[in-house]
Amino acid sequence: MPADAPVITIDGPSGTGKGTVAHLLAQHLGWHILDSGALYRIVAVGAQQQGISDQETARLCQYAKEMQASFSTEFEGSIVLNGEEISAIVRKEQSGDRASVIATQPPLRAALLQRQHDFRQLPGLVADGRDMGTVVFPDAIFKFFLTASPEVRAERRYKQLKNKGVNVNLTLLLHDIKARDDRDSSRTVAPLVPAKDAIIVDTTSLNVNEVFAKLLQWVHPVIKA
Ligand code: DC
Repeated sequence: MPADAPVITIDGPSGTGKGTVAHLLAQHLGWHILDSGALYRIVAVGAQQQGISDQETARLCQYAKEMQASFSTEFEGSIVLNGEEISAIVRKEQSGDRASVIATQPPLRAALLQRQHDFRQLPGLVADGRDMGTVVFPDAIFKFFLTASPEVRAERRYKQLKNKGVNVNLTLLLHDIKARDDRDSSRTVAPLVPAKDAIIVDTTSLNVNEVFAKLLQWVHPVIKA
């Protein structure tokens, strides 16, 4: 692993805009991007297609190590698994929920570690997820942790899904978001918590451009784009 490639991590729960902001920042700096949530989602989707259940940890791990997955670098761009374009199914709420369930298993997290480290390439990497700053890239030069109230995050997700023509119920969405937060935050390994040296950004009353501007205030004095 080229350990000298600098990393900026952006962690936080879903609906904080971290995916969008991570892509904006990577594009701005001309750096690589890792959407680690997509990796967990791909395992969830791919393993299910292979008839592997959530409890079959050894088979899940083997699948995670062997799967051939490739991503476009654009936000919400194409995801190809073993030659098949699967981005639509990977981005479904159900895939996120299933990803959150299998992600509680320490061996699966370990099985995905090398694949995540492989994204660390020069000139640098912006990594988005839950444990990027705490576990996967503890030596990151900036660790951002984005938060927002569950209500605001549910509303954002609701609007996103509506725009995509997906019919959803806001109350159910809020319930699911809280359940996923609980699961992600309470697991024993790599829970969703800010790193000790994380910069916390509350995005409740900020739009994506305002969040991006806040991150740049930290990054620009250190890294010239
Ligand atoms: O960021 P996302 O919504 O695509 O992630 C889906 C799930 O994957 C999330 O609820 C928990 C899991 N995940 C994880 O455990 N660790 C990560 N670094 C990223 C995602």
